[in-house]
Amino acid sequence: MDILCLVLALPLAAGLDFSYHHTAELEAFLREVHRNHSSITHLYSVGKSVEGRHLWVLALGRFPTQHKIGIPEFKYIANMHGDEAVGRELLLHLIDFLVTNYHHDPVITKLIDNTRIHIMPSMNPDGFEGTKNPGCFPLEGRYNSNGEDLNRNFPDGFISNPSTVQPETQAVMDWIKTETFVLSANLHGGALVASYPFDNGNSVTITSDGISTTLDNDVFVHLAKTYSTSHATMHNGHVCEMRDPFTGGITNGFGWYQVGGGMQDYNYIWGQCFEITLELSCCKYPPEEELPSFWNDNKLALIEYIKQIHLGVKGRVMDKDGESIADVIVEARGRRHVCPYKTNRDGEYYLMLLPGIYVLNATAPGYKSVLQMMNISDGTQDFSALTYDFILPDVSAAPKLASCPTTPRYTESTSTTLKPAINTLILISTLYAVFR
Ligand SMILES: *[C@@H]1O[C@H](CO)[C@@H](O)[C@H](O)[C@H]1NC(C)=O
Ligand SMILES: *[C@@H]1O[C@H](CO)[C@@H](O)[C@H](O)[C@H]1NC(C)=O
Ligand SMILES: *[C@@H]1O[C@H](CO)[C@@H](O)[C@H](O)[C@H]1NC(C)=O
Ligand SMILES: [Zn+2]
Repeated sequence: MDILCLVLALPLAAGLDFSYHHTAELEAFLREVHRNHSSITHLYSVGKSVEGRHLWVLALGRFPTQHKIGIPEFKYIANMHGDEAVGRELLLHLIDFLVTNYHHDPVITKLIDNTRIHIMPSMNPDGFEGTKNPGCFPLEGRYNSNGEDLNRNFPDGFISNPSTVQPETQAVMDWIKTETFVLSANLHGGALVASYPFDNGNSVTITSDGISTTLDNDVFVHLAKTYSTSHATMHNGHVCEMRDPFTGGITNGFGWYQVGGGMQDYNYIWGQCFEITLELSCCKYPPEEELPSFWNDNKLALIEYIKQIHLGVKGRVMDKDGESIADVIVEARGRRHVCPYKTNRDGEYYLMLLPGIYVLNATAPGYKSVLQMMNISDGTQDFSALTYDFILPDVSAAPKLASCPTTPRYTESTSTTLKPAINTLILISTLYAVFR
């Protein structure tokens, strides 16, 4: 931390200027970074936008082209609302900062050696190019070329989403399926706050405070606070005029305003990935001269947030012969997910948990369940979560296994007392639906 602060205070010999980079410039920059740092970067596209622009991702890591057992996968996605331009530039500067400090700063070096970091500067390049009137609240550019809001376009955990899945959304969904992402954030503009799941909810998840929480709420609050307290001003709350005071610079998504079909809930419910939403500028598309101060305000937070991927516990599940077992449900007691979190093809699990005592349960058909109590400490300083491997004994009678329903839904209880009146929700959505 001390060392990182030291480096952050020094001017950087950066090859990247503070200006808005349109598609051609963005592609040229990513290609050049990859050329200059080919051993720790991998440039790939997860698909194309409606107008045929690539959805580029730069992955950074000691093994940038492939997943390695024990190395968790992280992602940042910006600019899913095309007119929210600050995050797009911040991620380019983050890339520049990471590659130029590798082997110079010990914290950045350990971070890259022990994490695979995927950065998508723009999920909606068509919207960005279509923003004709940059300014604080542009009238165009938010949606993709088919006029769809990509942050309303994902399958939803509470309702059936009527919107047609867009190419950009499908590409991200497929990407989430192919990588074992553990932690993620999605960058927006129009407010200054770190917002955590759920964005949607029902009587199962909505509390008497009018927020909609997951069983991992402690972890999500910690993640949002990590960002806001590492940011220059976000933790002060109420920074943008005329808008909500956000205590500590964080908010529950639903508590702010209800969003259906959002990407962060999708990641948590379907993607086995904890994602929060970062609103990083009161002004969605501010003048270029302000970009250096946005970078200065966010760089420490962007890095501290990635480090949090090393919270909790990780490991493999194997049979008595040491062969890895895929699709084993591994969860902590009291934190069951509607779509159970399962081991990947290498038999790996990753669970984000704050330091404390937990009971983990590993269950797979054909094996005896194993319960294991463990004392989990904070792994972020060592850049590694606690490692624990399970060995599952065979059994003849296979247990009946909970699986992810084709349309996982939070089943509402009969209690309706905590549900806000529907017209309140509509009113709030109309007022605020322009940010995330
Ligand atoms: C790539 O390396 C060259 C030569 O050192 C440097 O001038 C240029 O700024 C670098 N480009 C990027 C994008 O890092
Ligand atoms: C362990 O998890 C499985 C699958 O989620 C569940 O059926 C079983 O009841 C759990 N066992 C205990 C002791 O919690
Ligand atoms: C758990 O680990 C922490 C830190 O190592 C230690 O202080 C604490 O006493 C441990 N708790 C138990 C119940 O072992
Ligand atoms: Zn947005």
